[in-house]
Amino acid sequence: MMFVESVVRWGTWSILLQFGLGVSAGSCPSRCACRPEVREVICSGKYLNSVPEGFSNDARRLDLSRNKIKTVGRRQFSGLVQLQDLDLSDNLISMIEVEAFLGLKNLKTLRIKNNRLKILPVGVFSGLYSLRLLDLSQNEILVFLDYTFKEVANLQTLEAGENDLVFISQRAFFGLQNLQELNLDRSNLTSIPTEALTQLQSLTVIRMFRLTISSLPNNAFRRLPRLRTLQILNWPALDTIASNSLIGLNLTSLTISSCNLTAVPYAALRHLVYLRFLDLSYNPITVIQGNLLGDLLRLQELHLAGASLLRIEPGAFKGLSFFRMLNVTSNMLTTLEESAFHSVGNLQVLRLDGNPLACDCRLLWVMRRRQRLNFDGHQPTCSSPDAVQQREFRDFSEKELVRLFTCRPARIMDRRPQEARVEEGTTVLFSCKADGDPFPTITWISSHKNTVSPTGRIRVLPNGTLEVRFAQVQDSGTYQCLAVNAAGNDSMSVGLYVKGVPRNKTTPFFLEESWVEPPDLQNANSSAQMAKPYPFDAKTLIIATTMGFLSFLSSVAICFVFMFFWSQSKGQIKHTATIDFVPRSSVGGGGDGADGGRFTMKLI
Ligand SMILES: *[C@@H]1O[C@H](CO)[C@@H](O)[C@H](O)[C@H]1NC(C)=O
Ligand SMILES: *[C@@H]1O[C@H](CO)[C@@H](O)[C@H](O)[C@H]1NC(C)=O
Ligand SMILES: *[C@@H]1O[C@H](CO)[C@@H](O)[C@H](O)[C@H]1NC(C)=O
Ligand SMILES: *[C@@H]1O[C@H](CO)[C@@H](O)[C@H](O)[C@H]1NC(C)=O
Ligand SMILES: *[C@@H]1O[C@H](CO)[C@@H](O)[C@H](O)[C@H]1NC(C)=O
Ligand SMILES: *[C@@H]1O[C@H](CO)[C@@H](O)[C@H](O)[C@H]1NC(C)=O
Ligand SMILES: *[C@@H]1O[C@H](CO)[C@@H](O)[C@H](O)[C@H]1NC(C)=O
Ligand SMILES: *[C@@H]1O[C@H](CO)[C@@H](O)[C@H](O)[C@H]1NC(C)=O
Repeated sequence: MMFVESVVRWGTWSILLQFGLGVSAGSCPSRCACRPEVREVICSGKYLNSVPEGFSNDARRLDLSRNKIKTVGRRQFSGLVQLQDLDLSDNLISMIEVEAFLGLKNLKTLRIKNNRLKILPVGVFSGLYSLRLLDLSQNEILVFLDYTFKEVANLQTLEAGENDLVFISQRAFFGLQNLQELNLDRSNLTSIPTEALTQLQSLTVIRMFRLTISSLPNNAFRRLPRLRTLQILNWPALDTIASNSLIGLNLTSLTISSCNLTAVPYAALRHLVYLRFLDLSYNPITVIQGNLLGDLLRLQELHLAGASLLRIEPGAFKGLSFFRMLNVTSNMLTTLEESAFHSVGNLQVLRLDGNPLACDCRLLWVMRRRQRLNFDGHQPTCSSPDAVQQREFRDFSEKELVRLFTCRPARIMDRRPQEARVEEGTTVLFSCKADGDPFPTITWISSHKNTVSPTGRIRVLPNGTLEVRFAQVQDSGTYQCLAVNAAGNDSMSVGLYVKGVPRNKTTPFFLEESWVEPPDLQNANSSAQMAKPYPFDAKTLIIATTMGFLSFLSSVAICFVFMFFWSQSKGQIKHTATIDFVPRSSVGGGGDGADGGRFTMKLI
């Protein structure tokens, strides 16, 4: 009896103490579970409508998550000087008053995830000198105003993803000079907050998932000298990476994945000489071109999974001597030639599965290394030829390799000498048909040692035939057809001799001029110019010529009429005519009449 009484009395005392003398060590709010030995107060999932009172002021961790708290008032936690970790996630908080956290000078972690915050008044985070991590994700915040985070100078990680952010004010991140990691997933930003980001001088990692921005403009991330990791993921509209968009950055890891890029942004990447990890997966990229990634000296890993890759050109990874992982799973590659790599000896991990591979001599290098190479648990399989369809690489025996993984070198089939002697203006065709396995590619080299393109007056037709339209004297020379495949090359030469036709003086000059091509045809880089080398078609020429003649004739006729009338009136008018004219050079210079010249001619 005495014992019960004393407990009750002690309880009364402690309540009195709480209300009268402030919070004593060892007290615990009702509905909360306290663990004094680890100085934790757990009030999670207790249907609390407001922040309870009566916390022991030596608490280090306070968990108020999963309640129904709607507001956090001014100095709500002021006694909790030792608190390090405060969790307010999963409540209904729509309002946090200014200075709500004042006094929590040792707080390191503050989580306000999944609430209903729409605005953060400047001053909410006052007093949080030690804060390292702030999680504001999954709220409804629309803007970050200037100086919102001014007083949390030691913040290292800011989770601001999954809000309705439409705008980040230029000085919003002012004061966050120690922030290292910023997360802006799924916001409604329509452009990169370039200005705001320049305040974050210590930023090393920035993650931006699920944005609707369609292009990265030049200088999008300027002045972030410490940034090493940039992750752009799931921006379905992103199709343009300007060539100077990543300028000023020194990244070691770059992800631009699940976007709408149709080509590897070679120019934008060029200066990233410290880049080790590059992930461009899930973009509609069709080719990795040769010799364009060579500046990425330290690149170790390239991921281009689930893209639309049809080809990886020879020399694609030339210069990348540290390259050790290529992940091109789930593409449309028929092969991957050893010549793509700087040195296949360094390659450790290769994901080549999920591609329609043609198992011939081009893949023999993978086969030979199939025990040593790490396929990341996914064996590549053959799609063709039919004899080996669906077979996994590990299923082949050494003996089979020699027999099955073969190629037939390229061979030009019809080697009869071709020579054409034609007059200027004629159209000439030279055929070049080749055979081989894999099917050879055909290239024509002009007499000027240039590769003939598929467009222009001199071009290669899709069937490999060389076409020279409206042959010119300077087209004369030897042309070489090259048939190339992985197993070997073949070549053949043809001759073209174009005889000049003496030009008629009556031919209007532009007829001749328009037929003269720029002498270095293959170096003219404007494809528009290549595709339309003739400003006049035949019909235009006829009309132009006719009109030329007509106007000439009419001028002559008018002249005769004039002379006729003049001769009729001879003797009645003076024998000189004075004609005023304005010299051409002065036309643009104001054109006042004083500049005009004057000449007098004698009439007979
Ligand atoms: C933000 O984007 C989401 C999804 O596109 C949309 O539902 C929401 O209304 C947008 N919010 C604002 C403020 O524009
Ligand atoms: C991606 O680009 C293609 C054209 O290149 C366009 O048709 C398509 O609408 C784009 N997708 C999105 C989500 O913008
Ligand atoms: C770029 O980053 C690398 C790796 O972090 C570092 O070694 C190098 O000094 C940096 N270069 C510059 C110019 O900051
Ligand atoms: C290769 O890419 C796929 C698809 O993105 C991914 O699941 C896999 O983990 C990657 N492999 C390696 C070794 O990183
Ligand atoms: C190649 O195509 C052109 C036009 O398409 C045709 O005139 C020529 O005969 C073809 N040559 C061969 C060898 O099939
Ligand atoms: C075939 O030609 C290419 C260049 O066009 C050359 O790199 C390759 O070594 C040649 N292959 C053979 C077998 O001659
Ligand atoms: C050049 O003129 C002669 C007669 O003077 C004519 O027979 C010939 O067809 C003309 N040639 C051209 C290319 O116009
Ligand atoms: C292409 O043409 C433009 C102007 O016509 C020139 O400035 C540029 O250097 C050319 N590029 C190449 C690769 O020849």
